[in-house]
Amino acid sequence: MQIILNAEKKLKAEMHLFAAYCEVTGKDKNAKTKIVNAHWPADIKNAFNKAKSSTYFEGKKGEHFHLHLPSGESAYLIGMGEKEKLTAETLRKEIAKTIRYASSRSADLAIHLDDFVLGKDLEKSTFVMTEAMMMAMYDFSKFKAARTLPLKKVIIHTTKSEYKNSLQKEIEKAQMVAEAVNLCRDFVNLPPNELNSEKFAKAVVKDIKSVKRVKAKIVGKREMEKQGMGCFLAVNAGSAYEPQLVHLTYTPSKVTSKTKHVALVGKGLTFDTGGYCLKPSTSIAGMKGDMAGAATVYAAFKVIASLGLPYKVSCFLGMTDNAINSKAVMPDSIVKARNGKTVEILNTDAEGRLVLADVMDYTCDQKPDFIIDAATLTGACVAALGFEFSGIMGNNKNWNAKILESARAQDERLWELPIVDEFREDLKSNCADLRNIGKNLGGGAQKGAAFIENFVKNNIPWAHIDIAGNSENQAHLPYCPAKGASGLMVRTIIHTVENLG
Ligand code: BES
Ligand code: ZN
Ligand code: ZN
Repeated sequence: MQIILNAEKKLKAEMHLFAAYCEVTGKDKNAKTKIVNAHWPADIKNAFNKAKSSTYFEGKKGEHFHLHLPSGESAYLIGMGEKEKLTAETLRKEIAKTIRYASSRSADLAIHLDDFVLGKDLEKSTFVMTEAMMMAMYDFSKFKAARTLPLKKVIIHTTKSEYKNSLQKEIEKAQMVAEAVNLCRDFVNLPPNELNSEKFAKAVVKDIKSVKRVKAKIVGKREMEKQGMGCFLAVNAGSAYEPQLVHLTYTPSKVTSKTKHVALVGKGLTFDTGGYCLKPSTSIAGMKGDMAGAATVYAAFKVIASLGLPYKVSCFLGMTDNAINSKAVMPDSIVKARNGKTVEILNTDAEGRLVLADVMDYTCDQKPDFIIDAATLTGACVAALGFEFSGIMGNNKNWNAKILESARAQDERLWELPIVDEFREDLKSNCADLRNIGKNLGGGAQKGAAFIENFVKNNIPWAHIDIAGNSENQAHLPYCPAKGASGLMVRTIIHTVENLG
C-alpha cells in the first residue's frame, strides 16, 4: 500500500474520506446532536441529503456512512464526534477502522486531510493518520497465503499547498516508525522453531546493516563464560542454542563531552517453557512472545539511529530460550552473576530477570547516562494493571516521569508501580546474596524490578518497562491486530529518546 501526498488539483479516487462532526446543544435529557458537515463539497452534501437514511447519521464518534455517488465514486463519511474534542487517539482509531473497511472495497482512497485536522496541526494529523494506516494494515502472513486486497494507493489530499514539503516529511517519518512497529510484531509473531537465539541475533545484525553509524557485535557463550555471566548462562543451560547478547551502538555525527548516551535493554526469550518449574499447558503456549522486550527496543533503536538523532544510543538484547534437558538449571541452584553477586534460583520460570541481571551489568560498563529496559517479565504486572497496560518501575522518579510523559504523548498505556525497601528485603536469600523470587506473595512485578535494580551500577537512571500485559492481543485497538504482537511501547521509547533534551 502506497501513501502519497496530493496538494494540488481535484483528485479522482474510488473512495473519498470526509469527516463529519457533531454539535451538542442542551444538557442531559434535553441534549440534542446535530451533524456538522458544512465543510463538505456541494455534490457530496447534496447526495447525502437525498439519501433517506442519512437523517440517522449525526457525526457521532464511531458512526459512519458510505455514500455511493452517481459518478461511480463513493464518499465514506466518518463520524468524529465534537470537533473541539478531537484527539490524536480518536483519529488513529477511526482511520485504522476505516482503512480496514476500505482495503477490501476500493483500489484507491483519498483522504481529505483538511477535514481531519487536530487543532491547527496539519503535520500531526498527517503523521498520525499515516502511522495508523500502516499499523492497521499489518498482516503476519509468513505461514499462510498473504491477503490480496484491492487497496493499493492512499492519497492524502490537502488544499493547503504551502504545507506540501512539511507534510511529505511527516508521511516519510510516520512510515519509518510504523515499519519499525511492524518489524517488532514480525519478530514477536515468529514461532520458536523459526526464531531461536542464534537466528534472532543474526537477523537483527543483518537488519541493522542498512542503517548508517551503527556498529553491531554479538557476545556468545564463550565470551559470557569469560565474563562470568552466570545468571544468563543458567537460563541457557538446558538450551540447544547458544545464548546471544546483541550489542548495537549508534554514534551521532557530532560527539562532544556533553553528548548524552541512552541504553536500551531487552529481554529476548525466544521461548519460555518455565524450565524445571514447567509452565502448565494453559500458559506455555504463547511464550514465543517472550522476546517482545528485545523486539521492542530493537525496533525503537532502529528508528532512532535512522533519524540520526544527536545522542549516542546503545542497544543490548539478551537472547536465549528457557528450555529443559538434563543440563537445565535446577531449582535451588546457586549461581554467580557478572557483578559478583550470588543468586539462589528458586524458580526457573523467573528467568527474564536472570538474563537481564547480567545484561544490565554489561550495559552499565558502557557508562550510559540513562537506561530503559523492556521485558515481558511478570504475570503479576498483568494482574496489577490489566492487559491494557505496561508497568514502569525504576530508580529515578524524573526518568520514569519523562517516559510516562512520552507514553501519554503517544497514547500508549503505561502506569508507574513503586519499588519499596520491603520488596528489596524480600529478595534476600539465606544462602546467597539474592533469591530470584520473593518469599511472600504480592508485588510480583515490582519484585522483578527490584531484583534487576541490584545490577544497575552507579545509580544510573534506569527504568524497567514490564510489557507482559499489552505486548500482544490488543483487540480493542483497531490499529493493532486482534491476535498476536501489538508493537506497543516502540513509539513511546522513540519519543522518549527524541525528547531527551
Ligand atoms: N515470561 C513470563 C511472564 C509472562 C507471563 C509474560 C504472561 C507474558 C505473559 C516470565 O518469565 C514468568 O514466567 N514470570 C513468572 C515469575 C514468577 C515465577 C515469580 C510469573 O509471572 O509467573
Ligand atoms: Zn518465565
Ligand atoms: Zn519469561
